[in-house]
Amino acid sequence: MAQIAPSILSADFTRIAEAVQWVEQAGADIIHVDIMDGHFVPNLTFGPQLVAALRNATSLPIDVHLMVENPRDFVPSFQEAGADWISIHIEATAHLHKDITHIKELGCKAGLALNPATPIHLMNEIIRELDFILLMTVNPGWGGQKLIPSTLPKISQLKSWIRGQKLDIPIEVDGGIKFDNMQDLIRNGADVLVMGSGIFKSPDPKAEIVRIRQEMDRLKDVS
Ligand code: DX5
Ligand code: ZN
Repeated sequence: MAQIAPSILSADFTRIAEAVQWVEQAGADIIHVDIMDGHFVPNLTFGPQLVAALRNATSLPIDVHLMVENPRDFVPSFQEAGADWISIHIEATAHLHKDITHIKELGCKAGLALNPATPIHLMNEIIRELDFILLMTVNPGWGGQKLIPSTLPKISQLKSWIRGQKLDIPIEVDGGIKFDNMQDLIRNGADVLVMGSGIFKSPDPKAEIVRIRQEMDRLKDVS
């Protein structure tokens, strides 16, 4: 069954510990934390101190999405802060094999993130090394954007590739995902749905997680 990864980028920052606690109670699987450096993407967000604070507030895995240049420089401090999953962008490093190996050597799950216009075949020489793949369904930088439809066939192509190679690599998808389009993403092969505004800006966020979980259950049964 697919997993729910609420992105705290859309949470109320004055009550962030409470937010991760109630999403955990409501049935979330993973906490997604968006790190932006103002260079790789034109926005700034959090540092490792926030991840360390969240580590004390939840027992769920913490998934750090590094939207930064020179990601390798930041990996150790996020690992020390308590990150379980760390993804770096393929567009942000010239030393992919070294950087993915580094994340794994530190004991974290290593993910590779691809922007919407980045073709999946660029992962040809690295795919076997990956613990998960993050396909962006918006151009990264902000929460609350609309999903780019051309990213859907990319998910199914990647799923076929993974299955064809008899690999077991979850596909995480991120950006513009709501209750109303989650069915398309899951049908195309998404395993982990990152949802920011789709959860935190909904009228009743806790009930929304329950509704999403029930829908995932239903989709599992019909597939
Ligand atoms: C976008 C981030 C996302 C963001 C998603 O750059 O990587 O994780 O929080 O937010 P929504 O779900 O609102 O598009
Ligand atoms: Zn993200």
